[in-house]
Amino acid sequence: MNNILRSVLMRRSTSQLDMRPIRDEELMAILEEGKMLSNAARNREWHFTVLQNRGLMKQLGASCEKMVARVHGDIWGDPAVTGRILVESALLLIVSGHRDSKYAEDAANMVFGGMMLVAEKYRIGACWLTSVPEMLRAPETQKVLEQLSIPAGYEPLSVGVFGYKRTLAPPHVLTSADNIVNIVK
Ligand SMILES: Cc1cc2nc3c(=O)[nH]c(=O)nc-3n(C[C@H](O)[C@H](O)[C@H](O)COP(=O)(O)O)c2cc1C
Repeated sequence: MNNILRSVLMRRSTSQLDMRPIRDEELMAILEEGKMLSNAARNREWHFTVLQNRGLMKQLGASCEKMVARVHGDIWGDPAVTGRILVESALLLIVSGHRDSKYAEDAANMVFGGMMLVAEKYRIGACWLTSVPEMLRAPETQKVLEQLSIPAGYEPLSVGVFGYKRTLAPPHVLTSADNIVNIVK
């Protein structure tokens, strides 16, 4: 199996991340490669926010916990887990785009997914936090959002945390039902 395929197949969400800062050159590589990733042709107008401010991360973590408790408890389980993942990582990456441009959200998700794969190269783990963009639209988080200096006209579309992996444990094996494929000829 080549290295690219191995990263694609073996990458797993990492919720146990190290809070120590990511080396500048590795962070820049993830961002630069993120800019080059395939996405919907006319939706290249991304803005990346790299949040490393622990005070703001704590505030977002607390709001996120409330959001998950209110809306996503059935999907992500214990709300405190999402809050902890957000606070106990090196950084929060926010991919913003123009919501009104067609497919922007899908394309932003694709870019974010690609950046998580790029990060694997440096043993940097990531966890997508789908609850965060929704939380950042809620009235109670507008004060924190203002402090992120996201350019006018852009809004957070795809968000998650990055950090060096605390353990290099083998990934959990995925199993799925064998009746999820239908080939129509
Ligand atoms: C699109 C997406 C959004 C996610 N959002 C959250 C989230 O808001 N909160 C959370 O605790 N985990 C979130 N996760 C992590 C999942 O809990 C994780 O994917 C799950 O444990 C399965 O692990 P795996 O991605 O390695 O298969 C998200 C994962 C994905 C792929």
